[in-house]
Amino acid sequence: MVLPKTIAVDGPAGSGKSSISFALAQRLSYLFVDTGAFYRAITLLALEQAIDLDDKARLTALAERARLGLSDHLPDDGRQYTILANGRDITPLLSSSEVDSCVSIVSAVAGVRQALLDLQRTVAARGQVIMAGRDIGTIVVPDADLKLYIDAALDMRAHRRYQQRLTSGESADLDAIRAGLSSRDTIDSGREVAPLLRAPDAIYLDTSELTLDEAVDAAYHIVCEWDRAHDAS
Ligand code: DC
Repeated sequence: MVLPKTIAVDGPAGSGKSSISFALAQRLSYLFVDTGAFYRAITLLALEQAIDLDDKARLTALAERARLGLSDHLPDDGRQYTILANGRDITPLLSSSEVDSCVSIVSAVAGVRQALLDLQRTVAARGQVIMAGRDIGTIVVPDADLKLYIDAALDMRAHRRYQQRLTSGESADLDAIRAGLSSRDTIDSGREVAPLLRAPDAIYLDTSELTLDEAVDAAYHIVCEWDRAHDAS
């Protein structure tokens, strides 16, 4: 089977792109890289250091000096990746509601994005990588062999996040989650630098009506189609 060296996956929050990419990576024995985790890591560090989120210069300096890395070690706590900041495993802290509500502000800072670009491109260059985010097919790896744009209706995305929170034993408010996702959509899609966009050559996958297994099958089918097209050429 001829497999794409890099698969770029973009889409809005809650579209299922991380869960689908993670499952697809396991099926293909690829490395899954969730680039949202890098932006979440910088956001967490900024909150820990009480950096004013309007202070773009300090946020940029923080991103430039933060030593972020991925670890192969995946403890059995439901996580899809392990991310280290200066050697510290910060993974469980990245999905807090505080980080959730601040990450769009931090990720809209041009200097922060620039500081994280090299790291993302270096990881993507290793090959056998599925990289998920907002600007992977447009900015980070515009020459990726295969690009997917994964989408779902806002109500469906909110409902999934709500269920995820309840399943992990957290309290959840559906209306607040929907409002939070909608506000992140607006910031992520409307920002000046690297907004969420569907690359013209990305294959569109709407998961609104699909279960996770069905969505993973659909993504796998797209990879098989890519293989057929490239095997034939
Ligand atoms: O996928 P996520 O919800 O973990 O992403 C967190 C935030 O990071 C999201 O609001 C947008 C931002 N992000 C980004 O700007 N570019 C990426 N490649 C990945 C995430």
